[in-house]
Amino acid sequence: MRILGIETSCDETSLALVRAERGRFVVEKILTASQILIHKKYGGVVPEVAAREHAETIFPVLKKMLPLDSLRSLGESGGKHSFARGKVSIDAIAVTAGPGLITSLRVGVDVGRTLAWLWRKPLIGVNHIEGHIAANWLPPAKSGRGTIPKIEFPAVALVVSGGHTELLCMKKLGHYELMGATRDDAAGEAFDKTAQLLGLDYPGGPAVSKLAEKGNPRAVKLPRPMIASGDLDFSFSGLKTAVRVIVETRVGARSSRPGGITPPLRVADVCASFEEAVCEVLVTKTLAAAKKARAKTVLLGGGVAANRRLRAMLAAALAEKLPKVRYVEPDLVWTSDNAAMIAAAGYFALQEKRRSDPLTLAPDAGWELGR
Ligand code: KG4
Ligand code: ZN
Repeated sequence: MRILGIETSCDETSLALVRAERGRFVVEKILTASQILIHKKYGGVVPEVAAREHAETIFPVLKKMLPLDSLRSLGESGGKHSFARGKVSIDAIAVTAGPGLITSLRVGVDVGRTLAWLWRKPLIGVNHIEGHIAANWLPPAKSGRGTIPKIEFPAVALVVSGGHTELLCMKKLGHYELMGATRDDAAGEAFDKTAQLLGLDYPGGPAVSKLAEKGNPRAVKLPRPMIASGDLDFSFSGLKTAVRVIVETRVGARSSRPGGITPPLRVADVCASFEEAVCEVLVTKTLAAAKKARAKTVLLGGGVAANRRLRAMLAAALAEKLPKVRYVEPDLVWTSDNAAMIAAAGYFALQEKRRSDPLTLAPDAGWELGR
């Protein structure tokens, strides 16, 4: 079975063809048009600009991916397309229907609905978070091939992105129970805001983590918010405020203001200390969730899952404290928003007989998984 995945929930216009066969996925094609350079000058994603870019880009990307002579041939193809190696047919369409920016989601959802209608193929509206979790089943991006890891349930998934920080329990494929979530900022948002305070590049996560590699994680004492709260919720807004105070009083030239009694701090040290604080909270709560759910597997997903310190810390903590729990993490390429993970989640949803109606599927900006 071959699935066309469509992802436009934020600022990446991504389309993918993913084949599911005999226990594995093959990512046959993936094209992602990033808008990072456009939003960089605003220091964040501007929803109206993002939606317009999706609308202008999605058909050129589709045309590039499928060998189409014209949009007319798109309608007449019935989902069958001639590639160099012969005719291939698209059997289903999976599109991100939420959560995300409503105007951005609308573009992808409407294209998905139209194609499903034209080709008379099943349509599945996929939850973006579900996609980030499904990325754990995708093969390494370089080879595009690989066996689907045998993931045993119950599994606990830590999803950390620009908009979400959630712990979900999966008793089986396609079933999600929310165990905990952030009460304010998401982990990725905290990275982005810290980067902004430090005058670093957008998006902030990669910039902070790159500098953190050269810094001392014990240089600044930062809080570990809610680490001992007894529940599985998170809060990162206080951490951001703590970083602001540090930046205003101790970083660079500003530390030499009258009253600046402590020696100046290097930006790399602030980055490393901040990263350590976030990762420590994430890892502690993930272990608590795994214990509570008697998990056999821990999965990781979302843009912040690209953070090497988080990956290393989680792997080490699980190996030490819960050695029977298997740790699975997605290939780095599949951590950021992409349509291959949406196609994979769509495949699982189809196995569960989940389908959306092309006439009525509507994007849901606040779609919460597992509540
Ligand atoms: O999943 P994603 O691509 O988009 C959303 O669904 O939000 O996640 C983007 C977030 C941004 O906040 C970005 O700064 C963060 O993931 N991020 C990272 C790293 N790479 C991306 N955060 C920490 N370390 C990284 N290496
Ligand atoms: Zn995402």
